[in-house]
Amino acid sequence: MNTITNDIKDPSLASEGVRRVEWAARDMPVLKAIAERFEAEKPLAGQRITACLHVTTETANLLLTLKAGGAEVAICASNPLSTQDETAAALAEVYGLQTFCIKGEDNDTYYRHINQALDIKPTLTMDDGADTVGIIHSERRELIPGIIGGTEETTTGVIRLRSMSKDGVLAYPIVAVNDADTKHLFDNRYGTGQSTLDGILRATNVLLAGRKVVVAGYGWCGKGISMRAKGHGAQVIVTEIDPTKAIEAAMDGHEVMTMDKAAPIGDVFITVTGCKDVLAERHFAKLKDGAIICNSGHFNAEIDIAALERMATKRGARPFVDEYVFADGRKTYLLGEGRLINLAAAEGHPASVMDMSFANQALCSEWMVKNAATLDKGVYTVPEEIDKQVASLKLDTMGLEIDELTPDQARYLSSWTEGT
Ligand code: ADE
Repeated sequence: MNTITNDIKDPSLASEGVRRVEWAARDMPVLKAIAERFEAEKPLAGQRITACLHVTTETANLLLTLKAGGAEVAICASNPLSTQDETAAALAEVYGLQTFCIKGEDNDTYYRHINQALDIKPTLTMDDGADTVGIIHSERRELIPGIIGGTEETTTGVIRLRSMSKDGVLAYPIVAVNDADTKHLFDNRYGTGQSTLDGILRATNVLLAGRKVVVAGYGWCGKGISMRAKGHGAQVIVTEIDPTKAIEAAMDGHEVMTMDKAAPIGDVFITVTGCKDVLAERHFAKLKDGAIICNSGHFNAEIDIAALERMATKRGARPFVDEYVFADGRKTYLLGEGRLINLAAAEGHPASVMDMSFANQALCSEWMVKNAATLDKGVYTVPEEIDKQVASLKLDTMGLEIDELTPDQARYLSSWTEGT
């Protein structure tokens, strides 16, 4: 008997979803090579994976790779607004995965879906933002003995996991996929850089040239967004709390100032700090009329929306754009309800960059299964051989060749006796 119960928006979207998943696959050659090996070797046989990820065409290709490796997979969304309903329909109806996600679901449904995906009693968890780990450690502790390990995709999730580990409460080993060079240097920088502007442009169709774009946070995501906004002809202002990153922003050619100073002069504000209340009441009070505000960090806590709702009246302006009118008549436009704009209003990062992130996810799941017996509770970095393997495979698929050290050069680099 088929016991799979899915919760998706519309099963009839499945064929459109399949076409889109196949479109993404064209640009994911590294993941494809891993899927072919997994199909032959079945390294995940017997594993049950609860994946809580943005349900996109790229994620679908990762999930199919895990399935090819022999795993049973249940998927739920890692954000209420990031699901592509066609992809979800394809996963449920055509690819046979247990699928629980609907774009625009409310908070209760979001958490119910995570719980449903956990009902497969996972042996492995795969998170983007650590919500699954959070629920397992609070409401579903009975699952812990059956879990051998997990992986985490994003900076915000890794920060949460490290603080759980520091407090001694993390109950199983988790690999911080985000920390692989082949993840954050490309996904966070070039992926977020492009997809964030894509989301803003699809939602608003504003011209960025000549506008002041304020980027809050100069981590890899902030660097990518600033670089791309500058490329559009925007004047980029960076706000930071870290002095080193602020110097970096200044030397990259951006203006650096506090948010209090930027608030009255910015035209478009993008938060990517991982922190809360980066745009708050005191900033809203002095925003320029017509300012656009949005977030591309993991959680919707970066903009204090509750304060905005207290201060202004709201009406929808266009899809993913809400207009707020303050008592003095000024208007501001909040995009995507303050949720990650690149996934709310666009399609997230392009497949060719997710290829590397998800190759790491697949290989780290395999690594976790192979090494489970010897791993302690805690947060692990991606093994260097996996990171380098992903880089080499990607380079090959890009048709690029690099030099190799001669034996003499290798000796030179590992010795300390040769000098001037
Ligand atoms: N995070 C950012 N972009 C993504 C994508 N295209 N798929 C899954 N997760 C993402």
